Amino acid sequence: MKGSQAKKRATSTRVWVWVWVSASVIVVAAVVAAVVALGGWGFDAAKPGRIDPDDATLVALGRQVYDGQCASCHGAKLEGQPDWRSRRPNGRMPAPPHDASGHTWHHPGDVLFGIVKEGVQKYAPPGYQSDMPAYAGVLGDREIFAVLSYIKSTWPAEVRRRHDELERLAGSR
Ligand code: HEC
Repeated sequence: MKGSQAKKRATSTRVWVWVWVSASVIVVAAVVAAVVALGGWGFDAAKPGRIDPDDATLVALGRQVYDGQCASCHGAKLEGQPDWRSRRPNGRMPAPPHDASGHTWHHPGDVLFGIVKEGVQKYAPPGYQSDMPAYAGVLGDREIFAVLSYIKSTWPAEVRRRHDELERLAGSR
C-alpha cells in the first residue's frame, strides 16, 4: 500500500517535471525566435547594404528586379533607348544605357541609389521633368542595392575598377 502511494507520487512528480521542461523549452524557443527576428531586423536597419557585384545572391535578385522594373525603358540588354543622347520633342531625355557605353558608371553608388530611390529630380534643377520613376515605396533598399549590383556585375573589369576608384574618391563606402 505504502509502496504504491510512493510510486504514484513519484509518477506525478515525473509528470510535473515534464510539464515544466516542455514549458521552458517552448518559452526559450519563443524568446530565441523573437530575439532573432527583432535582432535580425535591427541589424538590417542599421546596415542598409551596399552595391556588391560579387555577391551572387544579390546579383540574381537584382537581375529579377531589373527585368521586371527597368528593362522596359533601359533595355533587356541594358542598351538604353534608341538615340538616347537626343532630347525628345517633349523636352525629356530618353532612357540611357546602363552598360559600359552609358554614363551610369560615371556616378558613385550613393548617387545611383538616390536616383533610383528618389528620382533624378534629386540631382536636377527645380522643375526638371523626367520619365525616370522614383522607386521609393515600390522597391526596398535591398532591392535597389541588388539591381545596382546586377548592373555593375555586367560591366567589363576595367569599367568596374574605375567605378570602384570613383567610389573610393566619393568616400561613399
Ligand atoms: C519609364 C521608363 C523608365 C524606367 C521603367 C526606368 N527608368 Fe531609369 N531612367 C529613365 C530615363 C528617361 C532616364 C534619364 C533621366 C533624365 O536624364 O531625365 C533614366 C535614368 C536612370 C539613371 C541615371 C543614369 C545616368 O547615367 O545618369 C539610373 C541609375 C536609372 N535610370 C536606373 C533605373 C533603374 C535601376 C530602374 C529600374 C528599377 C529604372 N531606371 C527604370 C527611364 C526609366
